[in-house]
Amino acid sequence: MRKNIVAGNWKMNKNLQEGIALAKELNEALTADKPNCDVVICTPFIHLASVTPIVDKSIIGVGAENCADKVSGAYTGEVSAEMVASTGAEYVILGHSERRAYYHETEAILEEKVKLALANNLTPIFCIGEVLEEREANKQNEVVESQLSSVFSLSSEDFSKIVLAYEPVWAIGTGKTATADQAQEIHAFIRSLIVKKYGNEVADNTSILYGGSCKPSNAKELFANPDVDGGLIGGAALKVADFKGIIDAFK
Ligand code: 13P
Repeated sequence: MRKNIVAGNWKMNKNLQEGIALAKELNEALTADKPNCDVVICTPFIHLASVTPIVDKSIIGVGAENCADKVSGAYTGEVSAEMVASTGAEYVILGHSERRAYYHETEAILEEKVKLALANNLTPIFCIGEVLEEREANKQNEVVESQLSSVFSLSSEDFSKIVLAYEPVWAIGTGKTATADQAQEIHAFIRSLIVKKYGNEVADNTSILYGGSCKPSNAKELFANPDVDGGLIGGAALKVADFKGIIDAFK
């Protein structure tokens, strides 16, 4: 059966010292009170090599927030999937709406990133989700279906290694959360697309996380949906009490 996962996306927050302190505090809290789900923290690149040795790998996985679409070479400022993996990180967020919107990441670029992540044994947390105008025009299904094209080119074996995150852009950092019903409806639709492409077994085993203003007060209701297998958490991942409150929704 698929895993329940709560993953934090620190985005561009916390300097190195603050990030190390946050990871240590989270590790202490989850060592003392073990989670009932997989927990992942995705940090800025520069934190990875410092954070991976200080967390208990059996409790907290570490991931990057992006990686390059090229293997190596003259790409000033880029960080490759191989470099990410060499820090001990095991995950990488790909296709986040902020990367799509501000850094113009297309489906073709994302397809390359996903392949390189998998080639380096990283688990991609692949994000999809519509903007407000698309939701208002009732186009959310079309949008997520077209975004999935970057991962639907994978073999069934490779697709089985990825995690999906549905993040409606209108709910990210806005305090507006999708209702539990809205989340379930589109997660079920996403799973139905996986059934069509890869069959029931692969679809049943794919974790689909919800992201967008997820907090301790709404996590339980969201995660109680049969097709919502956890969350990708932004703002609330920056405070241990809030992040742990969300993790504890699985207790
Ligand atoms: P917030 O939880 O801050 O809305 O961010 C969600 C997100 O973008 C996680 O990737």
